Amino acid sequence: MTSTSTSLDDRLAMARKMLVDVSQEQVLACWDTLTDEQRESLLDQIQSIDWAETARLVQTHVLQKPQFALPKTIEPAEWYPRIPSKSQQDLYKQARKAGEKLLREGKVAAFTVAGGQGTRLGWDGPKGAYPATAIRKHPLFCCTAEFIRKAQQKYETTIPWYIMTSPINDAATHAFFEEHGNFGLRPDNIMIFPQEMMPAFDNTTGKALLDAPDQLAMAPNGHGGSLKALYTSGAITDMQTRGIEQISYVQIDNPLVKVIDPLFIGLHATEGCQMSSKALAKAYASEKVGVFCQMDGKLGVIEYTNLPDELAEQVDADGELVFKAGSIAIHLLEVNFVEQINTQAGGFALPYNRADKKMSYWDVASSSRIEPTQANAVKLETFVFDALSLCEKSIVLETDRIEEFAPIKNADEPGAVDCPATSIQGQTERAARWLGAHKVDIPRNEAGQVDAVIEISSMTAIDPEDLSDVDLPPQIDAGTEVLI
Ligand code: UD1
Repeated sequence: MTSTSTSLDDRLAMARKMLVDVSQEQVLACWDTLTDEQRESLLDQIQSIDWAETARLVQTHVLQKPQFALPKTIEPAEWYPRIPSKSQQDLYKQARKAGEKLLREGKVAAFTVAGGQGTRLGWDGPKGAYPATAIRKHPLFCCTAEFIRKAQQKYETTIPWYIMTSPINDAATHAFFEEHGNFGLRPDNIMIFPQEMMPAFDNTTGKALLDAPDQLAMAPNGHGGSLKALYTSGAITDMQTRGIEQISYVQIDNPLVKVIDPLFIGLHATEGCQMSSKALAKAYASEKVGVFCQMDGKLGVIEYTNLPDELAEQVDADGELVFKAGSIAIHLLEVNFVEQINTQAGGFALPYNRADKKMSYWDVASSSRIEPTQANAVKLETFVFDALSLCEKSIVLETDRIEEFAPIKNADEPGAVDCPATSIQGQTERAARWLGAHKVDIPRNEAGQVDAVIEISSMTAIDPEDLSDVDLPPQIDAGTEVLI
């Protein structure tokens, strides 16, 4: 017997014991058919998983659906309104200046979470590669890159860009950036790093699924994983070396996202917040966005799946939704805060959530790959907004749907929302609003929608006032496509 096979035998015995203890030994079912190399890689994967924690989560989140425990008191969150009251006008002016100063001093970084799998969109590959813009069909990564380039010019600064991928799309994301020349940004100002993964489980038996005979089926651990990945990847150290103090956190799915917002940065920083958020008034009670609430006196988000209908539908005397502050998943994070939660004694842990998904897997009995037609698997994910409970101070700033929210989450189909078609409409609406403010005539149909497709490149404008020195047409003709 060679020393390799001895050590493999030892490793197998240890792994088997650990797996038997948590009733997951089925992940070794194909062992006899594997090469030594495959065996090593399967054992490496098994050893990288915290099986004791996994066993607990199978009991609480897979074999039963966890019940969301509503807090004793739940009130709507207060927010800074989109349009300041008279008494707030000075505060907003000062905050915007403070935000611009932080930008000019190079103290702000952009951070995109792009580790999701984009299953609802049905897009194969990193979601950031999806052709999103109304006319040029530029990919989502390009939208963020152009915003950063324009903001760098405008504030005469450097805004390093950190991107969280997952092990599933990390290599493809690196390749996409290389293929596109980093979208005109300097490569030394871009850092791409993967988040951690969790095993996926059969939703009836609680058994960990295989993706191949020598591989467990794994899924990204939710965007809450970004708080740890920022630290373990070395991104936080890199930021500290550069003198970065604030992280502007955005999702990859929204081409209108204001990657850098001086007012938001200024309010958050001058109020001494560790983590802050943007919200918009929900369009209707069942809109699929998390809602900001004061829960037992603490600001947090209740995910749409957990908000009871009677609260989601509650209206005030004016008929307005009471719980209306919808999360668009835009945050600011203090660099020191992210470092501190990662280095505090005992570390930090965000609660896991269950997501029921359709997931292909390796079936041992038939030695074949199965493509299920309905949800068969449970993925376990943490949510970044649960870190709000770790903050001493946090604000919410209201924003405007037309200005900042036209996400691409679902595939196009009749009646679909948050899909490519509605995003293009949203992009056009915002462009029309900005052009209208500069006296450009906009054609509208009977329903009041813009009767044209308009795209304003972020290289041209990231704010309406950037259009002041642009040569604009006096009008947009109905039925045309116009790129500004
Ligand atoms: C999310 C928010 C919801 C918010 C809405 C606004 C959650 C659970 N819900 O919903 O409160 O109102 O956006 O658009 O987040 N991601 C990772 N790694 C992961 C999982 C996700 O990086 O493991 C990234 C995705 O790439 C994407 C973002 O997080 O950029 C959103 O993830 P998704 O699961 O699509 O959340 P939504 O259901 O759209």
